[in-house]
Amino acid sequence: MAKNKEIGLAVIGCGVVGRIRASFAKEYPGIGWIGLSDKNRELGQKLKADLNADFFSDDYMELIQRPEVDAVIVATSTWAHADPTILAAESGHYLFIEKPLATDAVESAQVLSAIEVNNVDAVVGYTQRFRRRFLVVKEKIQTGQIGEVRSTVTRAFMNRMAPMGEVRLTQDRRFLTPMVVSGTHSLDMCLWLMGDTAKPVSIFARSNDSVMSALGTKDATFGVFTMEDGAIWSMNICWALPKEWPGAVYGLEIGIVGTKGVIDIEDTHRDLVMATEVAQGPAYNPDDFKIEVSRNVDFLTSFPPGDTYNGELWGPMREETNSWFQRIYLGKETPHATAQEGHRNLVLTMAMDLSAKLEEEIKLPMKEKKLMEALSN
Ligand SMILES: NC(=O)c1ccc[n+]([C@@H]2O[C@H](COP(=O)([O-])OP(=O)(O)OC[C@H]3O[C@@H](n4cnc5c(N)ncnc54)[C@H](O)[C@@H]3O)[C@@H](O)[C@H]2O)c1
Repeated sequence: MAKNKEIGLAVIGCGVVGRIRASFAKEYPGIGWIGLSDKNRELGQKLKADLNADFFSDDYMELIQRPEVDAVIVATSTWAHADPTILAAESGHYLFIEKPLATDAVESAQVLSAIEVNNVDAVVGYTQRFRRRFLVVKEKIQTGQIGEVRSTVTRAFMNRMAPMGEVRLTQDRRFLTPMVVSGTHSLDMCLWLMGDTAKPVSIFARSNDSVMSALGTKDATFGVFTMEDGAIWSMNICWALPKEWPGAVYGLEIGIVGTKGVIDIEDTHRDLVMATEVAQGPAYNPDDFKIEVSRNVDFLTSFPPGDTYNGELWGPMREETNSWFQRIYLGKETPHATAQEGHRNLVLTMAMDLSAKLEEEIKLPMKEKKLMEALSN
């Protein structure tokens, strides 16, 4: 596609995230046509009406094959990314894929292969990369301000409302683990910040499942990666915090120590607290799912996509989506995660789950087929 031709955009998945991204597309001058797909017809038709979009089908194949389409956003449920992504890649379209690339490492390798063979530009939705605080850290580390990274520690705490929403649409929850679904955001962030020298050669992890086993998932996974150059990285996530926890979704702490300095990141959102007699509901509100919760203390800005002002979302998901439009419309370089990084992230999160399952250190890299066989046994 020649640069500056108006883009025809397909958005597959019209839930919370598909709706947000399609709404930004409606306001981007370089996008001339918007088609939508969701297997939930009512949801998709409602978004079409709200945006005055050009086309809707409950069959994503019909949408992807429309002649108007140049670019595709895959915003289907976490476990339903692979098939539409492969078809879109085979059709030669620009791709924006929500994380994770797939929930099976073999499928993820097939997705990556389709993207590479067809030579399409494909990025993955690691939204937090678009926050000013992380961009400045990336810049400082890549320009050598703390020397060579030697030791990193990551602590992600999540309100259990997020996994409750995540697992609601499927009974096959084997691979919907804290690391695969959500820890992937922190894992991507830390590997991105650490830079190209951060090449994991082993992982030793432990998990536990207490309160979240009723939902078919685990509470927490903590692990230590060792890098090719001897650096170490402790990556830890727990998504079993109480529903009343004031953080809406995600609270993060990261410490990165280099040979010449340190960067210590406090991203728990405890710097902006509201306490009120007016009960605050969940931040994540899919149309078909209501969580009964009364929260009277709220860490504002803790909903990862951003915050609502005057009915519109402001924050990292806006920056990320609009930057992608600039990437495909203007040819601009952007900090999006590549499909290769998305695949690496899935393999590493699954390797953490495997190490925890076997209670053994896992040597990396590991072949996708071997990883899935060992996880499935
Ligand atoms: N980047 C971020 O910060 C962020 C935040 C939340 C969610 N996500 C990711 O975005 C994706 C969507 O999450 P959501 O919160 O919008 O979920 P959601 O449940 O609100 O929406 C997903 C939609 O996909 C539809 N769908 C599922 N399979 C489909 C198929 N084969 N064809 C067409 N439609 C299909 C469902 O009907 C549903 O409407 C997930 O992968 C999630 O991991 C990313």
